[in-house]
Amino acid sequence: MASRYSLAAALTFTLLVPFSHSQTCKDYAFHNGNTYESCIDHYVLGTFLHWNYSSATSIADVAFRRPATTSSQWIAWAINPIGRAMVGSQALVAYLTTDGTVRAYTSPIESRVTQLTEGPLSFPASNVSGSYVDGELTIFARLQVASGVVSSSTQVWEVGMMSSPGVPAGHPPDGDNIRSVMRLNFLNNADYPEAASSAARSMRKINHSVRGMLTSLWTVLPLGAMVAHFA
Ligand SMILES: *[C@@H]1O[C@H](CO)[C@@H](O)[C@H](O)[C@H]1NC(C)=O
Ligand SMILES: *[C@@H]1O[C@H](CO)[C@@H](O)[C@H](O)[C@H]1NC(C)=O
Ligand SMILES: *[C@@H]1O[C@H](CO)[C@@H](O)[C@H](O)[C@H]1NC(C)=O
Repeated sequence: MASRYSLAAALTFTLLVPFSHSQTCKDYAFHNGNTYESCIDHYVLGTFLHWNYSSATSIADVAFRRPATTSSQWIAWAINPIGRAMVGSQALVAYLTTDGTVRAYTSPIESRVTQLTEGPLSFPASNVSGSYVDGELTIFARLQVASGVVSSSTQVWEVGMMSSPGVPAGHPPDGDNIRSVMRLNFLNNADYPEAASSAARSMRKINHSVRGMLTSLWTVLPLGAMVAHFA
């Protein structure tokens, strides 16, 4: 009886873990009622990306969110259309201001020394807004990006601390903060390891991308990493 129970428990565990992992973002209900056709669970830093994309209009409606974010942290998500490096990343950034409202804005990363200052992206971005509900910080935006770019470029995401009100500071330039980079494909989210049904396959892909990154650390330092060096 006991061993039969253990076997059943083990099987249930094996079957449920990858399944529930792949459902984490899919079951999410936005407080503002927004819905998105696709999403991925980012595999580090506890963040999620939700999106709609139309090839006909080149419009991407995106939401990037991070539960358990404090008032002294900033979050950012970026498309890098020109490479896997930090330079060239077209970022959406958000943090809580001292009056409790969310500041959400665009920031093009033009050099390795950045304080994530506001500026226009290399593609049109509109309706950039943020929300902070129950400790979850979210950035919403509408981006106009050609299908060639959203199907074959890089996405990076980051979480860091504020150094003072209104000034994002760096984060440790190691660990999960340099693993937060992966391919971008808005046309097919089944392409992502996080969306695949096999957890083992995810791990292999993640292992593969981590190995790939370690071989060329300087070229893949994601967004924000260099701030730490100069802060
Ligand atoms: C995303 O697309 C779905 C289906 O077309 C639509 O119902 C939803 O409102 C869209 N979401 C946003 C944020 O535009
Ligand atoms: C963008 O913002 C404008 C002005 O606030 C609003 O009228 C429009 O509905 C918004 N569009 C989307 C896609 O959210
Ligand atoms: C991932 O890498 C770790 C450490 O190198 C290894 O122990 C593990 O078996 C790998 N997992 C897969 C699924 O390849």
